Amino acid sequence: MRCVFDQQTIAARVAAMGREISRDYHGRDLLLVGILKGAFVFLADLVRALSLPVEVDFVRVASYGSATTSSGTCTVTKDLEADPAGRDVLLVEDIADSGRTLAFLVERLRARGARSVAACVLIDKTERRERALDLAYTGFTVPAGFLVGYGLDYAERYRHLPAIYALEPGEDAVTA
Ligand code: IMP
Ligand code: MG
Repeated sequence: MRCVFDQQTIAARVAAMGREISRDYHGRDLLLVGILKGAFVFLADLVRALSLPVEVDFVRVASYGSATTSSGTCTVTKDLEADPAGRDVLLVEDIADSGRTLAFLVERLRARGARSVAACVLIDKTERRERALDLAYTGFTVPAGFLVGYGLDYAERYRHLPAIYALEPGEDAVTA
């Protein structure tokens, strides 16, 4: 595994994103929606970088595909508990790849009457994008590769790593 973003780099970027979000949402009714499971580490650090009152909720979406690609249909397997109607919702995602998950959730939250829906991703992985996304906040941009750590998993492994690593070709087949 090759380290792509170390702990200090991530912490500095998350702090900057927190300041930007705090400035943009000042005086508004912010509902942060973390997309499980991958966003739990990022969201935990991001909320502590905010200087405004927020409500935190979670949603879980399953998309069918192989371990390293998400393809096909999205279904909600754990829904929001908060009512998004009339709220300013910020979706918090670990990584945008095809874009299907975020596109699906943005559309769903709008349909449920959210006042505004925006997306905040730690990593924008661009090469396999299928759905156009308007990402209001992006931590890092990478073209491709399979990343693990800081919440990101390969087959449920590696989420606990404090930095972000790229799995090298063939590595995913070994002990993951
Ligand atoms: P999308 O719907 O294709 O944009 O997929 C987004 C989801 O796929 C993310 O929430 C991750 O769960 C997963 N994913 C995509 N790329 C990676 C990666 O490099 N590492 C870990 N998970 C990934
Ligand atoms: Mg995910």
